This record gives sequence, C-alpha cells and structure tokens, in this order.
Amino acid sequence: MAVVLGIESSCDDMAVALVRDGTQVLASVVHSQDEVHADYGGVVPELASRDHVRHVHGTARRALERAGWTLERVDAVAVTAGPGLIGSLLVGLCFAKALAYRARKPLVAVHHIEGHLASARLGDDPLAFPFLGVVVSGGHSALYAVESGERIRLLGQTRDDAAGEAFDKLAKRMGLGYPGGREIDRRARSGRRDAYPFPRPMLKEPGLELSFSGLKTAAALEIARLERDGGGALGETEIADVSASFQEAVADVLVEKTRRALERTGYERVALVGGLAANSRLRERVGELAGERGVEVRYPPIQLCTDNAAMVAAVGHGLWRAGRFAGLDLEAFSRVPLGEVSSSAP
Ligand code: KG4
Ligand code: ZN
Repeated sequence: MAVVLGIESSCDDMAVALVRDGTQVLASVVHSQDEVHADYGGVVPELASRDHVRHVHGTARRALERAGWTLERVDAVAVTAGPGLIGSLLVGLCFAKALAYRARKPLVAVHHIEGHLASARLGDDPLAFPFLGVVVSGGHSALYAVESGERIRLLGQTRDDAAGEAFDKLAKRMGLGYPGGREIDRRARSGRRDAYPFPRPMLKEPGLELSFSGLKTAAALEIARLERDGGGALGETEIADVSASFQEAVADVLVEKTRRALERTGYERVALVGGLAANSRLRERVGELAGERGVEVRYPPIQLCTDNAAMVAAVGHGLWRAGRFAGLDLEAFSRVPLGEVSSSAP
C-alpha cells in the first residue's frame, strides 16, 4: 500500500489530496478562488498566486486531517509542474518541495492534463486501458489516445479557445457571473436547444481538430442583436434559449469528434474529463454515443471533473512506482507538452 499526497495549483484552485494506491481518494480538498476573480470576469494571475500563498498551508493541513494521515506516513509528494499560470504553479511547487525536503519524501512532477485523464481511473472500478480521453476544461480541449499511464498520444486539439473559455465568456456576456459554465448548464435546462442555429465549428473539416472561438463570437453577436431588438438586457427565456442552443452546438461538435476518434482508434472505452465533463447535457450526449456504439463510458464525479489534486496524486503514484523522481531544482512550466514534465527530472 502506498499513499501519495498531491498538490494542484495551476490556475485558480488550490487543491491538496491524499490518494491510496493511485485510485482510492482518502481526502480531496479544494480551496476555490471564484469570489476573488468574480468581479473581473476571469482569472487575474497576480491575485491567484497571492491567494494560493495564503491558502496552501491550510489546504494541506485540512487534507491530512480529513484523511486521518500524517506527512510522515506519506510515500511521495506529487505536484503539478505545468501547464498553467506560472505564478500559481510556483506556489504549489515551492510548497511541495518544502514538504518533500522536510519529510524526506520523493517528489514527483505531474502534467496537469495527465491528471485530468487520470481522474477517470479514480475509485473502486478504474477505467481499463486503452481508452479515448476527451479533455474539456477552461484551459484545454483535446482528444487523447490513452494507451497506458505512460503512453498518451494527442489526437486533436482546439486551434483557438478552449470550450470552457467559450462557456465562461458567454456567461459573462449574459451577466451570469464567473465562472459561468455551471450557470449556463442550469439555465439551459429550461431553454430550447434549436432556438438559435449556432455554427458547429470544424464539423465539415475531416480530422479531430476543434475550434470554439467562432462559436463564441456567433453567440455574442446573437446576444447583441437580441439586446438591440429588445431594447435592453436579455430576458430569462432568451438567456435559457441562448444557453441551450450554445450548449447543444458545443455538444454536437464534441460528440462528433469523439465518434470519429473512437472509429479511428477502435477503442472500446471513452472518458470525458475536465471541468466541462460536469456539464449535464455533455454527459448525456457522450453517454448516448457510447450506448449507440456499445463502448464503455466514464465521467468522474463532478468534484473530480474540475481541478483537484486527487488526479495529481493518481498520476504521481505511477511515477513514484516507476522511480521517476524530480529533483528539488524542478521548474514550473507555463506551457509544456504531455510527457515532458515528469521526464524533465534529473
Ligand atoms: O478543469 P477546470 O476546473 O479548469 C481548467 O483546467 O481549465 O475547468 C473549469 C471550467 C470553467 O470554464 C467552468 O465554467 C467549466 O469548467 N464548468 C462547466 C460546468 N462546470 C464547470 N461548464 C459547463 N457546464 C458545467 N456544468
Ligand atoms: Zn484543469
């Protein structure tokens, strides 16, 4: 049995978790900064790192308490080294180094996206390899062939915005607060999915590339037109209809690309991960596709879809077992290809 303590601070969530044997979550604590950034309608990097400094220690203490564990009994410390906001990453990284040094534990460096992919393998019944990983979050939208914990191939990704970025911008434009993905999901439940014919970007192009910037602009233009015609801010029905129509456009694109990726890889398992995997309609649509094709589908529980440290500890467990330790000179990477974080260790 091995317990890994994971630390995640790549963006605006400070998270610490303890995970046993790479799958059993003993504790997963997330300190959210939504209130810090709400007035700005987006993450302010400087405010994010300052808030991380204030909360890293307490979050770690709480995670250990909840798990009923001590630092001395931890087998390794895993930390997200990239990609992400450099100031945010550095806080988690410095803290992880201090813990590892002080408790004489091995340190392992985790790639944030590998973490999201590993979230499909947390729990009593981890998804078997190989599987198609559909990562959709505030910062990333990509499809991966996950052959094993060590072999992950990028199949296609967004050329511009991440899907979550489009959700958040649209929510902000309609005055629904930040981050607004969850609110769009909620409003969409009473809206008409065919109210507005928003574009389905990249569907006509062959392949697995994605793009959400055009869809975001189309939705913003539609909102401007509605405001002009209605002489003011959108009413509840219009907000619901725009939300449902926009969400359906995103779902159509992601479902079709997922279908193509399943065909191309021949895989019989698919995992929807990242913040947008919390979206009720997306879960439903990917579930329907999986049912149609007879493939196994997995979405993490909602709290493990958005950024968390359990997924970091899960990847960390594999690295620790493989002896792929990082040195105390480990750096943070704002951008870094998959696989290069853990191999950057000396
Ligand atoms: O994975 P995550 O916590 O952070 C990144 O790695 O980017 O994802 C956050 C994103 C935000 O854009 C948020 O609005 C979105 O996930 N999100 C949702 C839902 N819950 C969170 N988007 C749509 N529907 C939801 N239910
Ligand atoms: Zn993330």
